[in-house]
Amino acid sequence: MSAKNFSFIIVAGGKGSRLGAKKQFMDLGGKVLWQWSADEAAKLKEISEIILVIPKDFDAEKISWNSSIPFKIVHGGDTRSESVLNGLNAAECDYVLIHDAARPFADKNLFSALMNAADEFTGVIPVLPVSDALKKIDLSADGHGDEKNISIVDRDKLFITQTPQSFPRKKLIEAVKKNLNAKDEAESWLDSGHKLTSVEGQRLNFKITWQEDMTIAKSLINQQKITRTGIGYDVHQLVPERKLILGGILIKDSPLGLLGHSDADLLTHAVMDAILGAAGLEDIGNIFPASDEKFKNADSIKLLQEVLSLVNSQGWSVEFVDAVVEAQVPRLNKYREEIKNNLAKFFEVNIKFKSAENLDDAGRGLSMTCWACATLTKEI
Ligand code: CTP
Ligand code: MG
Repeated sequence: MSAKNFSFIIVAGGKGSRLGAKKQFMDLGGKVLWQWSADEAAKLKEISEIILVIPKDFDAEKISWNSSIPFKIVHGGDTRSESVLNGLNAAECDYVLIHDAARPFADKNLFSALMNAADEFTGVIPVLPVSDALKKIDLSADGHGDEKNISIVDRDKLFITQTPQSFPRKKLIEAVKKNLNAKDEAESWLDSGHKLTSVEGQRLNFKITWQEDMTIAKSLINQQKITRTGIGYDVHQLVPERKLILGGILIKDSPLGLLGHSDADLLTHAVMDAILGAAGLEDIGNIFPASDEKFKNADSIKLLQEVLSLVNSQGWSVEFVDAVVEAQVPRLNKYREEIKNNLAKFFEVNIKFKSAENLDDAGRGLSMTCWACATLTKEI
């Protein structure tokens, strides 16, 4: 017997009215929703072509997909069955897998199980036992159930049906034509008196129907974020007749301040370099050169805001910053909350202080040093 070949039909012809947008074309982790199943299907050699059914008023020119297997786009109809029928008519293989674009997490093991169970007389569907307690309710005018209109439904032997569903193509065309309002192809198939068998579905293969389903889908692919850590460092001399500013806060009781071209806020400088480092960018010396007069006595918090706009414009979010300031004098702990709160306007932050154990220039009160680490993420 020759190997079975399958057309993988993705129905994406709906309106997404319960979600409030055409969900099948929404972005999920940098991919359009329907592409998740297309990419998965393209991994299997038994699948010879992919057919995407788009809404009847949707411009096919807007679709692009780097497909490694033959790919066709056809327009859908007013009902799901009409969309399926248009897909079936464009398909060429003996067998079809019909899949909802709105189920991005079906994986190839399920496709294989469905294809293995298919034969020329039998449809195959993925099912899962219902896990919630069930009630049937005829909602009253105010939208609430009550003891008069709520009845119990025994969940024993009840299963939910998923997609893809597998069928021999020509027989399915005849079955679908007879009922263009069926909820799924298994319904038309059974109505036509054909054989049907089930395989175990996948819990993660849920259908995105409501806004909250999209939130769950996004959190499931959170690992599609990249995380980068950057390090920053700064050192300045401590001299008389300069203000001491750390994290944008004036340290009032210090007789000494940090020497520098800008306000010499070394904590903010180290933090900026850590953020730029995580984003793979040059340091502040390059971005705000000391030779440029406009940075004379510059407010470093304003420079920090520029740095944040720059990294944000490249898709990065600052998740967390940690810093340690090394200072023999003055004692800084009592300013910790004020400094932290000032920087916490921009990102989650922690600040620590260390004396320099009377060693080196910092230990002799001639300089201050700061190291900072920043964690940035970017959706890919
Ligand atoms: N579908 C289709 N053609 C239609 C209706 C639905 O191809 N005329 C597709 C949807 O795009 C979806 C799948 O069938 O991938 C399952 O349908 P459903 O979840 O109901 O999607 P929508 O009909 O778009 O959503 P809603 O019912 O909330 O409007
Ligand atoms: Mg629908």
